[in-house]
Amino acid sequence: MQNTIVVGAQWGDEGKGKITHYLSEHAHAVVRFSGGDNAGHTVIQAGKTFKLHHLPSGIIYPEVLAVMANGMVVNPDKLLAEIEQIKTQGYNGANLRISDRAHLIMPYHLYLDGYEEEKRGNKSIGTTKRGIGPAYQDKVKRSGIRVGDLLYPEILKERIQQSLDSYRDILPSDQFNLESLLAKTQKWAESLAPYITDTSVLLDGMLREGKTVLFEGAQGALLDIDHGTYPFVTSSNCVAGNYSAGCGVSPIWAKEIIGVSKAYTTRVGTGAFMTEDTGETGRFILEKGVEYGTTTGRPRRCGWLDLLALRYAVRINGLTGLALTKLDVLSGLPEIKVGVGYNYKDKLIKEFPAQTHILDDCQPEYRSFPGWSEEITEVRSREKLPAPAREYLSFIEDYLQIPVKIISVGPEAHQTIQEII
Ligand code: GDP
Ligand code: IMO
Ligand code: MG
Repeated sequence: MQNTIVVGAQWGDEGKGKITHYLSEHAHAVVRFSGGDNAGHTVIQAGKTFKLHHLPSGIIYPEVLAVMANGMVVNPDKLLAEIEQIKTQGYNGANLRISDRAHLIMPYHLYLDGYEEEKRGNKSIGTTKRGIGPAYQDKVKRSGIRVGDLLYPEILKERIQQSLDSYRDILPSDQFNLESLLAKTQKWAESLAPYITDTSVLLDGMLREGKTVLFEGAQGALLDIDHGTYPFVTSSNCVAGNYSAGCGVSPIWAKEIIGVSKAYTTRVGTGAFMTEDTGETGRFILEKGVEYGTTTGRPRRCGWLDLLALRYAVRINGLTGLALTKLDVLSGLPEIKVGVGYNYKDKLIKEFPAQTHILDDCQPEYRSFPGWSEEITEVRSREKLPAPAREYLSFIEDYLQIPVKIISVGPEAHQTIQEII
């Protein structure tokens, strides 16, 4: 396997965790380059289920380095709980490294996330309330606190005080004060110190030695801060191009860019969803696909695959191939529809519009396919899939002009049909 980027090609929860874990076996390092614990990546290994929020999906291979790079935002309380969790599941986490340049999600960022959502009223984004937006805001405002600052108590003190001062009018002083935050950060420093390092130096060295690195994205193209359905997006760049800035390595290293997409579409949180099905099919997918958020437990909104949106994700990421997940969930549907364009004010739209209010008024144009009744979770080659499923895959490839390189037919690593890579 070559150095590969795995990114979400929809609104997140496409199965990045499963696909990254599946490919991790062939990698020397697996690196998360963006987002924080808003992510929830499910990995199933030897019958054990891991819900990873910060930890890269390669963490459960002790010989694979698991790197949390500088593009991430980190909530140490949650991260330490995650490390404890994997310890109870038989892994010690000694292969973890955390960038000294990653930003901290401070307790007041969680408060501010809730505060801002409340202020938005009926225009709320439906964030995961993990403090992601406020932490990235502080980073861009140049008043963030970085993981490496934990090792320098004097600097830390000064920066926390500055932040408390700047939010004085919003934060309840009985909940947030310098002393308690310093006590907390001191504990974080003691626990995290062994993992903190300059991960850019580490990764650059590995890449120069010819080691194989897997770059694991979080969220998805349509949640990207620039390219997503703004403002109903997350606060970081989720597209493949951000792997370089998010890790501090040259963009030349990655040779393969795999976009992960479900065989249908889901979304959690508010915002446009053109092919959403709020009827019987949506309910079928919700129940059969167990479409409940990994991080928040919220039911996901469900609908048909939207190829116009997916073609947009192919372009902005430069995808070299697709990993199509959850094809097994569609077994049993008499008819399968796929969105091939949008009608907006009696005109056919060919490119994904920038404005969410336009998307809200877009009527999808569908192409219909016959379904299949057979369960396919035990199928391990494309030729053995039912003919209608193969026809569906070929149509997707023709439309997107990229190959489906991995087909996933169940949540476990072995429930995978790998074509190329
Ligand atoms: P991520 O955030 O992209 O890693 O995706 P999540 O883990 O949040 O959500 C994907 C869900 O689908 C998880 O519960 C996975 O275990 C499950 N999953 C992944 N691939 C497949 C598949 O091919 N079939 C089925 N039935 N479930 C899958
Ligand atoms: P993974 O990596 C699905 C959504 C939230 C909300 C919006 C902004 O598991 O695919 P935020 O807390 O980031 O400010 O919320 O983005 N969201 C996700 N949806 N999967 C995720 O991550 C998500 N991370 C954020 O629901 O709509
Ligand atoms: Mg998820």
